[in-house]
Amino acid sequence: MSGNYRIIKHPIIDFRRGRRVIFYYEDKAIEAYEGESILAALYAVGYRVFSYSSDGKRPRGAFCMIGKCSSCLSIVDDVPNTRICIEPVREGVRVYKQRGIAEVPRKTNYTPAETVEINTDALIIGGGPAGLQASLVLADLGLDVVLVDDHFRLGGQLIKQTHRFFGDKKFYGGIRGYNIAEKLSKLVKEKKNIHVYTRAYAYGLFRNNIVGVAVRGDKPVNLLVKPKIIIGSTGACEKTIFFENNDLPGIMGAGGAQTLMNEYGVRPGDRALIIGSGNVGLIVSYQLLQAGVKVVGIAEILPHIGGWFVHAAKVRRLGIPFYMRHTITKAIGSNRVEKAEISMVNDKFEPIPGSEKVFDVDLVLLAVGLQPNYAFYSQAGAVLKYVPELGGLAPIRTKYMETSVENLYIAGDASGIEEATTAFIEGEIAALSAAIKLGVDKESIRKRRDELLDYLWNEYRLSPVVSRARAGKLKVTVSEEEMEKIRRGEYDGI
Ligand code: FES
Repeated sequence: MSGNYRIIKHPIIDFRRGRRVIFYYEDKAIEAYEGESILAALYAVGYRVFSYSSDGKRPRGAFCMIGKCSSCLSIVDDVPNTRICIEPVREGVRVYKQRGIAEVPRKTNYTPAETVEINTDALIIGGGPAGLQASLVLADLGLDVVLVDDHFRLGGQLIKQTHRFFGDKKFYGGIRGYNIAEKLSKLVKEKKNIHVYTRAYAYGLFRNNIVGVAVRGDKPVNLLVKPKIIIGSTGACEKTIFFENNDLPGIMGAGGAQTLMNEYGVRPGDRALIIGSGNVGLIVSYQLLQAGVKVVGIAEILPHIGGWFVHAAKVRRLGIPFYMRHTITKAIGSNRVEKAEISMVNDKFEPIPGSEKVFDVDLVLLAVGLQPNYAFYSQAGAVLKYVPELGGLAPIRTKYMETSVENLYIAGDASGIEEATTAFIEGEIAALSAAIKLGVDKESIRKRRDELLDYLWNEYRLSPVVSRARAGKLKVTVSEEEMEKIRRGEYDGI
């Protein structure tokens, strides 16, 4: 395996790489830098296949890059089913491809997890925009906060956003996403009453309001958190679509490619085809060019571009062709993508025979939408509703962001796909509401919450560019009286 996919010069990001370390992949020494995930380090030197399907026959590449799929399951220091896209590199670690269902590990180098119990006012699950904002608001009100995130750094998907955010300056308008992540993460770490656990996965809610959190690392901990309130800000997962060979390595979520390029400074390929012209598809197209990847085109199944005009105009200026009313029909290659075929569709969105176009590419990015990451709320017993405008199943909540499980709040993309500005606002509304529930009942808190609700519903969400999300959020927001009925099982208006 050879190649060098590290981005050396980038027009926006100055990649500051950490200390050089050596680890072993299939017994071969690999050079990497502290702060990278194992997968990013392998990708940088040319690896594209990281595991195999459960029957051991089909190769699997990188897809989501944030630990949300199972494309990269590997054996790390004897431990199978390790997602190497969120496993940090470290000196001497030994990594092997996982070929199908793994054997139970009988012997590992890991010390058994110690069980630690802690009490806190608020547990925040997820350190993206909503979770960071909620943590800071609660900490400023003098409450004790535990913040857990399954990645090894805070910031969520802000980390990979290099464009300047639109909107109001008070919600970080005009600042690049990764700069917002840095700023908020620093503020969080400075707060004595916010206890941060990274590489920490909240695996479920148990009786007596205890949340189990598996904290990975050299000294693993089974953290049993007993919070008075919980705010879930678990983000979203990327969707895929059906077509021939849609699992070939080289087919990746657009967000996965952003993580590689913008978080780790690794070029995800040489020639890319984008499927979907929503904001993510448009933004990733020009980010690929910044990273030195040739973009052969954007295929969009609808007759119109899905994303905002400002992004589409930029893509057009850069000369990237759009293929409207086209979808991907086939990926071609034996062990990785070598070509991709798109076809024009008819009014029923069926491919029209004879309209195929084939491109030489090693990368196909699927920008076909996100779905809320609802697993925790579902396990906790929250009532969910399927809302296409929000990307899938989303918890029913009051306007104060409390779900049908009392004292379990929700904010950000986990509450239905929208965008970062609303994640900040929802995070703050959830935190203020939780604080009021905990007895921090100052007039100024209620006033601030009312102002935020008014801005969110009567100003920000009235913009035509977010009208679809607004319609979706209306479908899952109920009054407090209706929520009481839902909790008693007496409400059938869902
Ligand atoms: S879990 Fe690693 S690529 Fe999705």
